[in-house]
Amino acid sequence: MEKVHNYNINESNELMIGNFSAKNLVETYQTPLYVMDEHRIVENMKNMKQSFSQQSLKTEVIFAGKAFLTKAMVKLIKENNLSLDVVSIGELYTAISAGFDPKNIYFHGNNKTEEEIVYALNVEVGTIIIDHKDEFELLSSLATNYYPHLLLRINTGVEAHTHEYIKTTHHNSKFGVSAYDDKTLDLINMINQSPFDFMGIHAHIGSQIFEISSFQQHTIEMIEFSYKVKQKLNVDINYINLGGGFGIKYTDEDRVPNIKEMLKEVLNTADEHIKKLNLNIKKLMIEPGRSIVADAGVTLYSVGSLKTTYGQKNYIFVDGSMADHMRTALYQAKYEAVIANRVNGEKNTIYTIAGKACESGDMIIHDIKLPEVKKNDIIAVFTTGAYHYSMASNYNRLLKPAVIFVNQDKARIVVKRETLKDLIRNDL
Ligand SMILES: Cc1ncc(COP(=O)(O)O)c(C=O)c1O
Repeated sequence: MEKVHNYNINESNELMIGNFSAKNLVETYQTPLYVMDEHRIVENMKNMKQSFSQQSLKTEVIFAGKAFLTKAMVKLIKENNLSLDVVSIGELYTAISAGFDPKNIYFHGNNKTEEEIVYALNVEVGTIIIDHKDEFELLSSLATNYYPHLLLRINTGVEAHTHEYIKTTHHNSKFGVSAYDDKTLDLINMINQSPFDFMGIHAHIGSQIFEISSFQQHTIEMIEFSYKVKQKLNVDINYINLGGGFGIKYTDEDRVPNIKEMLKEVLNTADEHIKKLNLNIKKLMIEPGRSIVADAGVTLYSVGSLKTTYGQKNYIFVDGSMADHMRTALYQAKYEAVIANRVNGEKNTIYTIAGKACESGDMIIHDIKLPEVKKNDIIAVFTTGAYHYSMASNYNRLLKPAVIFVNQDKARIVVKRETLKDLIRNDL
C-alpha cells in the first residue's frame, strides 16, 4: 500500500489513519478534528525509552506535557512507564485527575505562583525544578512538612540552531540561572543546606533541534558544570536532566537526525566525560515532547470555499484557524497536507490554506501544491500532534475541536468538541 507521512492510502484513494479512512472519521466526528494515532504515540514512547538506555548510567524519559496533555494522554504515559513534566497547576491537575503517580512528576516553570506551589506540595509532587533564587525562597517559606526533590535550571549558554523564539538557553534567557554566574553556586549551596533533597541540574536548549553536536556540547557543559560544583562546593550533582527539543520532520525539507543515534551519542559522550572527571552522576534524564506526539497527530478540516484573488493567489478556506493551528502564525512553521478524500492526483495548483479567523496572519499552510481542490473536500494536515491542541484558543470565540484517539480498529473521543454553551459557561 502506498503511504504518505507513514499513513496508508486505501484503494479508494483515501487517507487512512489506523484502520479508518479520514473520510469516515469526519462523517462520525465532524471537522475540524484532531486525530491522534495512539499506536504511533506508544511506538514513539517505546523507541525513546529503548534508545535512551545504557548499562553504566540510569536513565529516565520524562514526557513534556506542554506538547499535548489530556487525561487519556496521561494514562498512556503511565501505562508506558514514562515520567511527566508539567509547567502549570492546570497540567498538574490534569495529571493528578487521571491518577498519575505524583512521585513521577517534574514541576517546571519560571514563575510558579504561591497557589501552584502549595498545590504541588499538597499532592506531593516528586520533583520541583527551581528556576531562580526568589522562587526557592518562596518554596522554602511554603514547605512545612513535605520536601520534594529539587533540580536547579541552568543556562549553559549552548545556542541551539533553531528558531529564535524557541531558543531558551542563552545568557539573558527568562529561564533558569547561568552556569557562569557565581551567584548560581551560592544558590546551589543554599539549596543543598536546606531541608530539601538537592538532586542536580536541568537545562533545555531549545526546540526542534537538528544538530547532534548541539546536544553533545550541551551534555559536556552540564557535566563540566557539575565538576565545577564538586570542586568549588564539594556538592555532588546526582541527576542531570538534559531537557527535550529533539527535532522531527514536518516537511521534506527537514533534515532530521536519527533520534536513536543522537541519544546514543549523548549517552556515550556523557559516560566518557563522567568517567574522565570522576563524578558521581547517577542518572540522566531527557524531556521529549514533540518527538513523542507530533507525527502521531493529523488535523482534519473541511473546505468551505475557495477564492482566487485579483493578484492570482489561490486560497482554500477551511473551517479551522490559528485558534487550533497556532504554529504557522507564531513561528512561520511549515506543514504538509493532502486532500484526504482523494489523496493522489496531479498536483497542478498552488494554494494557500487559510483559516477563518480575523487575522491576516491566520494561515495553515502557505504555497502548497495540490490537485484541484473543491468545496467540502477534507484537508488533512500532518504532524500536528504537538503544540496544537495544547496551544488552542477560543480566539474569535471559535470552538475548540474534538480530539480523538485512533488505535488500529478502535477510535474514541478523548476530548469532546466544545459547544456554544461551553463558550459562555464562565461568563457572568
Ligand atoms: C523545559 C522544557 N522541557 C522540555 C520541552 C519539550 O521540548 P520538545 O517538545 O521540543 O521536545 C520544553 C519545550 O519548550 C521545555 O521548555
